[in-house]
Amino acid sequence: MDRFALVAPLLRLMPPETAHELTLRALSRGWGPRLAAPDAPILASRVWGLDFANPVGLAAGFDKNGVAPAALFDLGFGFLEIGSVTPRPQAGNPKPRVFRLAEAAAVINRLGFPSEGMAAVARRLGSRPSGGWPGPLGLNLGKNKVSPDAAADYAAAAAALAPLADYLVVNVSSPNTPGLRALQDRAELAGILRRVREALGSARDKPLLVKIAPDLGEADLADIAAVAADGAIDGLIATNTTVSRPATLAGPAAAEAGGLSGQPLFEPATRVLATLYRLTGGRVPLVGVGGVASGAQAYAKIRAGASLVQLYTGLVYGGPGLIGRIKRELADCLARDGFRSLGEAVGTASEAASGR
Ligand SMILES: Cc1cc2nc3c(=O)[nH]c(=O)nc-3n(C[C@H](O)[C@H](O)[C@H](O)COP(=O)(O)O)c2cc1C
Repeated sequence: MDRFALVAPLLRLMPPETAHELTLRALSRGWGPRLAAPDAPILASRVWGLDFANPVGLAAGFDKNGVAPAALFDLGFGFLEIGSVTPRPQAGNPKPRVFRLAEAAAVINRLGFPSEGMAAVARRLGSRPSGGWPGPLGLNLGKNKVSPDAAADYAAAAAALAPLADYLVVNVSSPNTPGLRALQDRAELAGILRRVREALGSARDKPLLVKIAPDLGEADLADIAAVAADGAIDGLIATNTTVSRPATLAGPAAAEAGGLSGQPLFEPATRVLATLYRLTGGRVPLVGVGGVASGAQAYAKIRAGASLVQLYTGLVYGGPGLIGRIKRELADCLARDGFRSLGEAVGTASEAASGR
């Protein structure tokens, strides 16, 4: 029995945010398991000029302040995304603000970007190991709730964090900051990206990704694809949590306000991913996230158009052993279907997955 199986029942008894804080604290002190082993060569890829030993990454929100990257890489992730980080520290929404929906293997959160702020995160990540991290480290940027100038916030956070990041993410899709998702509008987004690039100065070529919501329609997705076609976006992350609620979602927590993640998000997020792949003609690397909790689901995201995948909620229910399991199953799926590399499989089922 692994250690997670021993502590999981205890963690389940605690409010979700307390369980999460304890887990992160344990990881940051080096008490996490060392599960990373050399990855199967078929899982390796190169995206944005960065080498990924495997395509399974940790989604933003798990380690918002960059307290445990070394321990998280030790779990076997191919890459990590730290954040969302806001320019100034802020507390986020009142608690309780995270809810488990165990029967659905889902979570609803309305954290509202609690963040220690860019200066604290930059200081902490500045003390990285001298040889660098074992895989790419992305930094996901948010805006302060009270800030009237979103572009200025993203630009400031990008400038402060770029030296510590292999890629940057403009997060315009969290449902818990008023007005944030409206920034996905074509003109708004193009304006923000222009300001961010200017602020990056000599780091102008740092891969710049945009994370989008699963609740966008085809016209909105086409607008975002058009901004990407202009060369303003190096990659897209699809998707963040959803504000929609499937009719089948049961239990008292289902009615809580916030963003829904986990299994109920898998299908809608994969559909958006596949639609983006079609709209961008496969020319912009996509990161597939939303409801990944098995190798088959990671494989489905890749065949729908993802070059890389991420997960968060799967970890809550599956524990750290899930990462190795996903990697093994994914390597088996690729070999079974005759692919010689991960890259060969990307987008090979995007038409079917986009629901056309
Ligand atoms: C508790 C919680 C906090 C999150 N915080 C962030 C965040 O700060 N920034 C962000 O871009 N996404 C955040 N997310 C969204 C995840 O990165 C991911 O896009 C989403 O949960 C779907 O993936 P999953 O089904 O594997 O959890 C958060 C998700 C959860 C559950």
